[in-house]
Amino acid sequence: MIAILSILSALLGLIGQSIAWPLDPLPRLHIKHREVIGQRFLGNESHVEHFKLLERAPTFILIGARNAIYNISLHDLTEIYDQRVQWTSTGAHRELCYLKGRNEDDCQNYVRVFGRQSPDKFLACGTNAYKPQCRQFTIKNGAYVGGKDTDGLGLCPYDPQHNSTAVFAGGQLYAATLADSSGGEPLIHREKIRTERSDLNQLNGPNFVSSFAYGEYVFFFYQETAVEYMNCGKAVYSRVGRVCQHDKGGPHAFSDRWTSFLKARLNCSVPGEYPFYFNEIQSMSDVTEGLYAGKHNQLIYGVFTTPTNSIGGSAVCAFAMSSVLDVFQGAFKEQETINSNWLRVTPEKVPEPRPGACVNDSRTLPDITVNFVKTHPLMDDAVQSFFALPVLTKVSFNYRFTKIAVDPQVKALDGRTYDILYIGTDDGRVIKALNTQAPDSLDDVGQVIVSDVQVLRYDQPVKDLQVVHLAGEASKLVVVADSEIRAIPLHHCDSQTANTCASCVALQDPHCAWDHITDMCVAVPTKLHDNDASKTLFQDIINGKHKKCGNEQGVIVSPVVYSAQTLTGALVCTCFFSLIAGFASGFWFSQRLRGPPYTDQPEQRQQLNRLTENSETPTGFNNKSINLVLNVPPKNPNGKNANSSAENKPMQKVKKTYI
Ligand SMILES: *[C@@H]1O[C@H](CO)[C@@H](O)[C@H](O)[C@H]1NC(C)=O
Ligand SMILES: *[C@@H]1O[C@H](CO)[C@@H](O)[C@H](O)[C@H]1NC(C)=O
Ligand SMILES: *[C@@H]1O[C@H](CO)[C@@H](O)[C@H](O)[C@H]1NC(C)=O
Ligand SMILES: *[C@@H]1O[C@H](CO)[C@@H](O)[C@H](O)[C@H]1NC(C)=O
Ligand SMILES: *[C@@H]1O[C@H](CO)[C@@H](O)[C@H](O)[C@H]1NC(C)=O
Repeated sequence: MIAILSILSALLGLIGQSIAWPLDPLPRLHIKHREVIGQRFLGNESHVEHFKLLERAPTFILIGARNAIYNISLHDLTEIYDQRVQWTSTGAHRELCYLKGRNEDDCQNYVRVFGRQSPDKFLACGTNAYKPQCRQFTIKNGAYVGGKDTDGLGLCPYDPQHNSTAVFAGGQLYAATLADSSGGEPLIHREKIRTERSDLNQLNGPNFVSSFAYGEYVFFFYQETAVEYMNCGKAVYSRVGRVCQHDKGGPHAFSDRWTSFLKARLNCSVPGEYPFYFNEIQSMSDVTEGLYAGKHNQLIYGVFTTPTNSIGGSAVCAFAMSSVLDVFQGAFKEQETINSNWLRVTPEKVPEPRPGACVNDSRTLPDITVNFVKTHPLMDDAVQSFFALPVLTKVSFNYRFTKIAVDPQVKALDGRTYDILYIGTDDGRVIKALNTQAPDSLDDVGQVIVSDVQVLRYDQPVKDLQVVHLAGEASKLVVVADSEIRAIPLHHCDSQTANTCASCVALQDPHCAWDHITDMCVAVPTKLHDNDASKTLFQDIINGKHKKCGNEQGVIVSPVVYSAQTLTGALVCTCFFSLIAGFASGFWFSQRLRGPPYTDQPEQRQQLNRLTENSETPTGFNNKSINLVLNVPPKNPNGKNANSSAENKPMQKVKKTYI
């Protein structure tokens, strides 16, 4: 309840200042679970497989599962004959696992990590009954030959559900995971080199999301408890962390530590005097390249949400790789003493050579540089999003976004190109969206949701998404869940879903156009673009209207769009009326029941008193909620100037109540 109120007041704050909160876009098209068509792969249905996409090749995907790696054809999602890797834990490992008090399902080998060293050689790691192990495989005459087993500690998680990430680059495996089964020791690791042990400045309760190699770096994306958050309570921030691929460790005592690990905050927020932050990253796309407002850029798209115990707010923000790189060239952040504020480090205090820069041989770096990077891993600036607003925001009581995949730079009939976003949710949907303003402007976004498809059952979160283009076949989207893999079409331009010119054009989907000759909503084949045939096709991405459609009315979703304001207004009214009603009935009852019944229950009354008197020594049960109430008045133990940073502003203070 308090969480809801805090969000409400936050939203109210936004309204009070008439901030341009983007309208919550409504899907143009809804497709129910039973209407979903497309191939699927279920694996062994007698248990939960915990599917994990290991490798994406042009015509097949490798899927890590329980005691197996499946090789699945992208043509029809069937398992390629005779190409399964079977890999079970030994009886001894399983016995040990049961002794640790784990159950049958835990004590299996879930393959999580994969690195291809050459076309016929690869390394895979599995949870191996709570004792992670890696195995070298070679492919000889089409058969897999298992080689040496090595310890998978710090490369692969113990638990298939754990949020770990790993990437294979330059012949080596980079992993962000846990180094013990109690979940106590997170690390970012490559052979021989790792982050510091239990150093909260480096990693503070991280939840790893994804990783990729880029240039001479490897980037990691994760959420963690923010050390720099100085108000009461705690805050989770989204991070991008970075290491150099050629890091050889430091001199002397630093030989097994990174000399290049740096991190920065990712800022996905709705701007305003009090920006509204989506602080918890859930997924990051691969790097895509395209033309935005007339300039070339490399972007990554991330999914961010509000905390799980608050109203479900999700957003997609884009970041330019150049801004990510720039932030790591900028100022560092530091806290001089344990009670002081986190401040920007002045340039004079930064040693030479620059800490964290990639060098040929990091073992020759001076101690002062290595020490500095160890104690100052955090950059002062956050990476700001590329467009002035999130490219998509959604408030929903039913779901949050989990995963994103991008079909980059799809060309519309008007010649402009759009990144088409496919977003998975924790209740089994895939939302197709785009920013219709991207070709023209960075200062404004046009949020459009083309379709909302219930691909999986409601209880199956989307774990991974891949856009697949195969020569001579219809493109598709591969949707990965724990026990199911599904392929669906990238678009739904057909006569069932959009049977009139107006409804087809209203989709605002670059993949679809109304064919004036055949009177049908059709998929736009790319080869038509420069051809006269496009004159008979109608499409309008920006407004979803075409004058040549005439006066006929589309059967498309009515353009009623509930803005966050409307929603909040409704919520506030509801809350207000429930409060009044609650108060009235409470008052009535208290009048009716005054006397003996209450005097018999001194404990309850005492508690009521504690709440109302703001007692500083709450005891007994209900302790927790009392603290929450007490925390509401803004406290500023550091005497920090309320204007010094966004973190100090009232909205953020309210936020801590739902932790
Ligand atoms: C499915 O897994 C069970 C063990 O959980 C095994 O006994 C069975 O043979 C497997 N089925 C197939 C078709 O692989
Ligand atoms: C998976 O199947 C493809 C296509 O048949 C084959 O080329 C490949 O070697 C198989 N296995 C792996 C691990 O790539
Ligand atoms: C993994 O991340 C998801 C989403 O952030 C979270 O709900 C889940 O609890 C995490 N799992 C673990 C084991 O921490
Ligand atoms: C995050 O971005 C918003 C604009 O959306 C900006 O107002 C705010 O100052 C930024 N916060 C940080 C910490 O950089
Ligand atoms: C690093 O090594 C490369 C070749 O290995 C060399 O060209 C370059 O000059 C070296 N840089 C420094 C700073 O030593």
